[in-house]
Amino acid sequence: MNIKGKVVIVTGGSRGIGRGISLSLAKEGAKVAVNYHRHPENAKDTAKKIESLGGEAMIASADVTSSSQVKHMVASVIDKWGRIDVLVNNAGHIAGGGLLDITEEEWDKMMAVHLKGPFLCCKEVVPHMIKQRKDEKGWAGKIINISSVGGVAGQSVMHYCTAKGGLITLTQSLARHLAKFNIMVNVIAPGPTVSDLGSSEPNTEEKHEQKRKWARESGKFPLGRIGEPEDIANAVLFLISNDYITGETISISGGWGTLYNELLM
Ligand SMILES: NC(=O)c1ccc[n+]([C@@H]2O[C@H](COP(=O)([O-])OP(=O)(O)OC[C@H]3O[C@@H](n4cnc5c(N)ncnc54)[C@H](OP(=O)(O)O)[C@@H]3O)[C@@H](O)[C@H]2O)c1
Repeated sequence: MNIKGKVVIVTGGSRGIGRGISLSLAKEGAKVAVNYHRHPENAKDTAKKIESLGGEAMIASADVTSSSQVKHMVASVIDKWGRIDVLVNNAGHIAGGGLLDITEEEWDKMMAVHLKGPFLCCKEVVPHMIKQRKDEKGWAGKIINISSVGGVAGQSVMHYCTAKGGLITLTQSLARHLAKFNIMVNVIAPGPTVSDLGSSEPNTEEKHEQKRKWARESGKFPLGRIGEPEDIANAVLFLISNDYITGETISISGGWGTLYNELLM
């Protein structure tokens, strides 16, 4: 694995899938900037866990929809570690609703978190990656965006799925644009995964266990279980370790995505 000593920013790295990614990358020797927005206690806890594993972590607060906060976050990582090798655009939220229920404000918020956020983070981080490319040989940077199977085939939560679909085409455009700098950009589309998504507050382990039980008993998962943050983290590690993949979408859903497509037909 070529990640030892690499500097990584994981947006929304404080809990759920982002925490799984942060911990897995730290275990492989990366220095991880754990971003959060509203719950500093989760970011502190994740950073503590990384340190207890013998890894290096910093907490990087920012609302990814704010250009000034993203600028500040990236500057703080550069101040501490002097470079950024990997950006994982993972921060996100979900809210229910079909066409007649979704308000204009909710629509704008969904686009802001899932599309504007990754755009702003890439805009701030990529100049550092390009500079590294001038100074060194090898890959200059890797960007991994976290979309959803709902962004591949739309589902009822239409503003969420639309934003996640946009993130896939943003990834493809960035991949073409940044290939000349040897920066690779890919997107992971998770299926349902144990996390706090959909709750404004962090969930208890008991609630996570209920989700696992529901998945086992639902018959909706060909592999018989819901995804775990580590399943997504393993795909992130794979993309970082490979130097000839860019512009691709990888679904990590235990077959849930294909089953869903069958049900749609
Ligand atoms: N779990 C699933 O089933 C699933 C499936 C497909 C795709 N995904 C995607 O996976 C990603 C991670 O979701 P999750 O399931 O791990 O959710 P989660 O447990 O609710 O975690 C969300 C994370 O994003 C952060 N965040 C939210 N809004 C932010 C903002 N404006 N700026 C910075 N950070 C922000 C949260 O920080 P605070 O807590 O501090 O606000 C938290 O760290 C999301 O993009 C989600 O859409 C999840």
